[in-house]
Amino acid sequence: MKKTLEKYRQIFLCQLNNFFEKYSCDTQPIYDAVKYSIENGGKRIRPALCYLGGEFCGKNCDYLADFAVGIEMIHSYSLVHDDLPCMDNDMLRRGKPTTHVAFGEGMAVLAGDALLNMAFEAFLSDKNFDENTLKAVRYVAENSGIKGMVGGQCIDLTNESKKSFGLDDVRNLNRLKTSCLIKSALVGAVIKCGASSDEIKDIEIYAENVGEIFQIVDDILDKTSTSEILGKDVNKDCENGKITVVDILGKEKALQFINSLQEQALEALKKYGDRAQKLKDMCLYLTGRIN
Ligand code: IPE
Ligand code: IPE
Ligand code: MG
Ligand code: MG
Ligand code: MG
Repeated sequence: MKKTLEKYRQIFLCQLNNFFEKYSCDTQPIYDAVKYSIENGGKRIRPALCYLGGEFCGKNCDYLADFAVGIEMIHSYSLVHDDLPCMDNDMLRRGKPTTHVAFGEGMAVLAGDALLNMAFEAFLSDKNFDENTLKAVRYVAENSGIKGMVGGQCIDLTNESKKSFGLDDVRNLNRLKTSCLIKSALVGAVIKCGASSDEIKDIEIYAENVGEIFQIVDDILDKTSTSEILGKDVNKDCENGKITVVDILGKEKALQFINSLQEQALEALKKYGDRAQKLKDMCLYLTGRIN
């Protein structure tokens, strides 16, 4: 999977480059802040999920180019805003100073706004735009807005030193702030590629669980990894008084919990056999990031 992800990362960087080559904008320095925020590294997991969704439906990475660029733009905007002093107050992102540290707070707010709008420019200028693309974009808009990611970030803001925050509350938070964007990438991609309603339902269950796994792994790494490895500051959840699944369950039980989420994710794709093999491998890979 590591090799596949590296291949996808390179493909994505070319597609992103193509987008910016066609995009003329002379409103500096906001354009610099936008490019800084999206070009500065990142694992590019969400574009990879777009391509995997495409492959599942027999479409290649090129077919998903504009969709993947748009999804990563939404993700990058969410990180720029997540790092602001009024949110998580982070100084380091993807191994570099956060956008507000490099460009100032106002410019970082605008860079996030611009990336979100640019995402929809990418979706709507898709050379393969059709009825299914429209459905996919509607799905993304719903899942990245107040019924999804933004709603989750809102709950997260209230999750600071709140002793009453229980497992169900944190699970709901993780599903909204993280699974919803993972779903936008993967479910959005299969909707765009014309998947059947049964396939969409199964992929949705998979993505919901993978998103939860992704956030719990991120929370564990925040406690156990280093800023050199992650490219962002560590021990931030504790410093910011955030309660995570790991705080509630302890590491041992959190790992068991991840295993049960993994089982549910894989179960949802069982009937597809080899056709879903890469998606299954991706789930195992994302869980394996803890080690
Ligand atoms: C970080 O996402 C935000 C979370 C949902 C935990 P990633 O870990 O995918 O960040 P990048 O894109 O690789 O920087
Ligand atoms: C962020 O979660 C989720 C988003 C929607 C941006 P975190 O706040 O845990 O992400 P990191 O650890 O800063 O990357
Ligand atoms: Mg946050
Ligand atoms: Mg954060
Ligand atoms: Mg985190």
